[in-house]
Amino acid sequence: MPQDGPQAGPRRAAPWCRLLGAFLAAALLSACDGPQSVLVPAGEDASQIDRLFRVMLVGAIVLWLGMNGLFYFITRRYTGAISRRRAEAVILGGGVALPVVVITALLVWGLSIMPDQRAPGDGLRVRIVGEQFWWRVEYWPEGAEAPVVSANELRLPVGQRSEILLDSADVIHAFWIPALGGKMDMIPGRTNRMTLAPTEAGTFRGACTEFCGLSHALMALNAVTLEEPDFDAWLAAEAGPARAAEGPGRDLFFREGCGACHALRGTPAQGAVGPDLTHLGSRTSLASGILPMTAEALAGWIRDPQAAKPGAEMPAYDHLTEDELATLAAWLEGLE
Ligand code: CUA
Repeated sequence: MPQDGPQAGPRRAAPWCRLLGAFLAAALLSACDGPQSVLVPAGEDASQIDRLFRVMLVGAIVLWLGMNGLFYFITRRYTGAISRRRAEAVILGGGVALPVVVITALLVWGLSIMPDQRAPGDGLRVRIVGEQFWWRVEYWPEGAEAPVVSANELRLPVGQRSEILLDSADVIHAFWIPALGGKMDMIPGRTNRMTLAPTEAGTFRGACTEFCGLSHALMALNAVTLEEPDFDAWLAAEAGPARAAEGPGRDLFFREGCGACHALRGTPAQGAVGPDLTHLGSRTSLASGILPMTAEALAGWIRDPQAAKPGAEMPAYDHLTEDELATLAAWLEGLE
């Protein structure tokens, strides 16, 4: 007689049961929230995807428990011979009918929410162009003839559905802000269209989700969602010219030829190669989501962009003295 019968000792949870408990605890305690989580939706589209995911998760758990229960029942309790009719019923019912019903229902539901993700917008269009390794962002309010050009940050009004047009200037990138909606590729020579309808004001982190080169993992994007009056005020300010104060910072900017690549609206700097810097200082991050918007970070970036972002096309300005870098950085940070 083996010693593992019911009388062998105090009852303890089976090893698989403890394993499952540990897994669930780890899943629940790990960082599932935060600004870049699909599990904390802040937009209509993300909420729909989240609902679909939760239903599928619960369904998968129910099926997993059912299958293991059946396995346990067949191997431990019902060990006798099984009739052919009953065996066929199990195979046809559990192996054919159930998957057909479950997968068809999920397919119909999944297809039914797809058009919502591209529903018509309420007026604002935003064109976002992926570049190695940053984002060109153009706001086209309803009826506008020219865009408000910005970079490396997306601002959207809450309670409105905005149209997002996605392009690429070089290789394939992909646009994804998990808290707001699904992801979509940015393909050279083709404009992909999606719409986003934020439901909460806040700052959410997004990322490029298609390998696009050396600094793919350093191509992040903050999305700032604002209540409508705040958004309108912000866009009006963003459309205005740069507050490019006279002084040694400005002199350095033009002496070093920064305006050949970067634009500062209202000044002779009209470069379109790199990010528009008109209101640089008012952005939440530097270098598309990887550095804080501080004078120190700006000085370090200008001195050696490749140190922070390998493969970045901006040349290093390491011939500038520390004083010059600090002066230029402080002036750039003041461009609010
Ligand atoms: Cu852009 Cu990955």
